[in-house]
This record gives sequence, C-alpha cells and structure tokens, in this order.
Amino acid sequence: MATILSTKGVTKKFGNLVAVDSVSIDVEERKLSMIIGPNGSGKTTLINCITGYLRPDGGRIIYRGRDITKIPPQKRVELGLTRTFQIPSPFRKLPVLDNLLISYSRFNPGAKVYNSIFRPRWLRKEREAVRKAYEVLKLLNLLHVAEQPAENLSGGQLKLLEIGRTLMTNAETIVMDEPVGGVNPSLAHQIFKHIKDLIENHGKTFLIIEHRLEVAKQYVDHVYAMAYGKLIAEGSPEEVLTNERVVESYLGTTEI
Ligand SMILES: Nc1ncnc2c1ncn2[C@@H]1O[C@H](COP(=O)(O)OP(=O)(O)OP(=O)(O)O)[C@@H](O)[C@H]1O
Ligand SMILES: [Mg+2]
Repeated sequence: MATILSTKGVTKKFGNLVAVDSVSIDVEERKLSMIIGPNGSGKTTLINCITGYLRPDGGRIIYRGRDITKIPPQKRVELGLTRTFQIPSPFRKLPVLDNLLISYSRFNPGAKVYNSIFRPRWLRKEREAVRKAYEVLKLLNLLHVAEQPAENLSGGQLKLLEIGRTLMTNAETIVMDEPVGGVNPSLAHQIFKHIKDLIENHGKTFLIIEHRLEVAKQYVDHVYAMAYGKLIAEGSPEEVLTNERVVESYLGTTEI
C-alpha cells in the first residue's frame, strides 16, 4: 500500500502554546484514516496545516511525493487534496443541486459565467458540471432532494452534501473535521458506509477527525491518537483503543 499524504515533524504554535508538536503521520492511499484525541489536543490545527489554512511553524507536508508546505489551499485542491466545510447560511437557501454546481464552478474556471464570451466552451463545461452533479447526487442518495433548498435537509443529508461538494472538485483525498458530529448513530453509520463506498469503489482516500469511536471503529483502517499536540499512538482501531496512554489521555472525558 502506498502513502499518499505525510506530515513530517509538523509543529504549530499559538503564542506560547504548542498546539501541534512535531507530528509525523503517513496516510495510506484508498484507506479511511482517523485522528482521535481529547478536546484541545491539536486535531483541527493539524488538518488546518495539512489543507493549507494554517502555515506550520516547523516541519513539512508531502502530498504524492511533492512538498506542499508552502502552497495555498486552492492549489492543494487542484492537486486533489481537499477538505469539507459546513455549508454557509446563504448557500442553505439554494437548492442542493446549485450547491454542487457552485463548488464545481469554483474549481473549474471555464465554467464561470464571465467566461461566457467563449460560449461554446462555457456550455460544454456547464453540461459537464450538471452531469457530474447528478452523478454525485445519485452516489450519495440525494437525487430525490436535488431541487430542495439545502436548509430543508436533515443533519445527515447536509453532511452528505458537504462530501458531495468536495466530490465536485475531483478530490482524491478528502479531509473532514468530524463528519458525523451532531448526527444520530443510524445516520452516522450511513455516512460511514458512503465514505467506505467512495474509498472502495471510487478510489478516494479519507482522513477524518472523529470523536465517537463506538460508531467509527468498524469502518476505520488506521487510527492516530493525539494528546497535548503530540502523536501518542497509532495503529488499528483495536490497538489504539486499548493503548494505555490513549485511555489515560481520555480520563475525565466521556468521549472515547
Ligand atoms: N487560532 C487559534 N489561536 C490560539 N489558540 C488556538 C487557535 N486554534 C486553536 N488553538 C488552541 O490550540 C489547541 C488545539 O486546538 P485544536 O482546535 O486543534 O484542538 P482539537 O483537538 O481540534 O479539539 P476539539 O476536539 O475540541 O475540536 C487548543 O488549546 C486551542 O485552544
Ligand atoms: Mg477540533
């Protein structure tokens, strides 16, 4: 199995606080990898460094053999490395289909309306965008809500739409901060099943942060455990969940 994404000694400080402390991970292609750790352990900060929303103070980030430490988020998306974001509220008024089309046009400049002087090219791109959007809707079981404003969706469907927006960008590696956060267990299982399908049948790689291990553990291939900014354990879910340091790091919390 091949490594697609690595961090090498990544460090991020906020003033005197070392939020991420020399973390090195190798993420395998076409796998579901998960970062766990108590509140404030540096998980979100690490993925912000990976996706380019924060510049690390030390260390390097390598994607497909290329050092991407200094390149902006948009360029990382073009290389196939992207992350999900919550749907902003103005977008929630728009139909589900339009939410997907917006993501497409952001990452495919030819599809922007101001390029319409090159009308034949624009039309081609637009048709391609609509075709792709329907493909994504079908894949995520959202076809029946295509015309609904996003605000009508359930919590789980909104999460699926967030994944769908990344799929419109040709992402091959998708990084998600708590994809099933606030979602009931049965929907959470459905979302994980979709993620597994995208990995096994569509060649995607996922790196996710997740708190609820009881839901996630049956789907996950590899777990990284963080505490106080450091990587304290990694391995299969069983190995990591029984690791003494990991159990200790969660003492006093109810999350694991
Ligand atoms: N922009 C910031 N400025 C200052 N401190 C920050 C900033 N972002 C995060 N921190 C601090 O860095 C540490 C790590 O935060 P981070 O959000 O990465 O943790 P986390 O593991 O994602 O936690 P949670 O599970 O609660 O989401 C925390 O102590 C947090 O307060
Ligand atoms: Mg976080």
